[in-house]
Amino acid sequence: MNTLVRVADASVVLGADGRGLRGGQDKYVRTLSHISLCLLPGERVAVVGSNGAGKSTLLRLVHGLLEVCEGSVVRAPALRQAMLFQRPHMLRMSVGSHVALGLWLRGKPWALAKRQALDVLEQLGLGSLAPRKAQTLSGGQQQRVAIARAWALEPQLLLLDEPTASLDPYAKGEVENLLQAFCQAHAEATVVFASHNLGQVKRMATRVVYLERGRLLADLPVEQFFDPLVLQAHCPSAHHFLKGELL
Ligand SMILES: Nc1ncnc2c1ncn2[C@@H]1O[C@H](COP(=O)(O)OP(=O)(O)O)[C@@H](O)[C@H]1O
Ligand SMILES: [Mg+2]
Repeated sequence: MNTLVRVADASVVLGADGRGLRGGQDKYVRTLSHISLCLLPGERVAVVGSNGAGKSTLLRLVHGLLEVCEGSVVRAPALRQAMLFQRPHMLRMSVGSHVALGLWLRGKPWALAKRQALDVLEQLGLGSLAPRKAQTLSGGQQQRVAIARAWALEPQLLLLDEPTASLDPYAKGEVENLLQAFCQAHAEATVVFASHNLGQVKRMATRVVYLERGRLLADLPVEQFFDPLVLQAHCPSAHHFLKGELL
């Protein structure tokens, strides 16, 4: 099977280029250590671990927003990829234009981009939002529009950093339903999502990657990750993490 992304023995140090360090910190921070991971077509990979474990850093690395200081990240040629964040960044324009802009940036003429954007919004049941100002939408609506924007690009790799973490339960459900619809409509697409929601991990993932202090300690099919005996034998600290999260 064709590998979409191959991360080999990758380490990331934030601040090594003088940027990215949070204010007040004067030393470099190693956020990922010797990570190896291959992403294949059609996988649904959940990235789990405590706060600060390196989930966001890993997703940003895979998306190409960060560079390795050791190791390598190799992507399939001309890979179409999109990334969503916990809080979507909405532009100061209508929802229709916000979605169209993604297509225009990839080279579509504006009129065509606008038409396709409206088609996708309509198809996803978000047509009524098209004329609204993107920044005035609720958090759940914004996240669904962000998914529609990514959907319009037909990504082979979709990366999501805790896409439902800041939403109320109802909006969480709506966003998750839309993600499930994306997965069903794009069986070949690879979806990688960081999540603190173990129910969501069980519902959506085929594979679970566990990070702890920047290291990848477990990488298992979802059934094995949630099998206490298997997990305890394979990775005691992931087992501990899971027990803590379930308390
Ligand atoms: N811009 C930054 N400057 C310095 N340290 C950072 C920065 N971003 C993240 N970190 C640190 O890197 C580690 C991993 O962070 P992150 O990938 O955001 O973890 P997670 O998403 O699992 O909560 C943490 O220790 C965090 O404090
Ligand atoms: Mg994070």
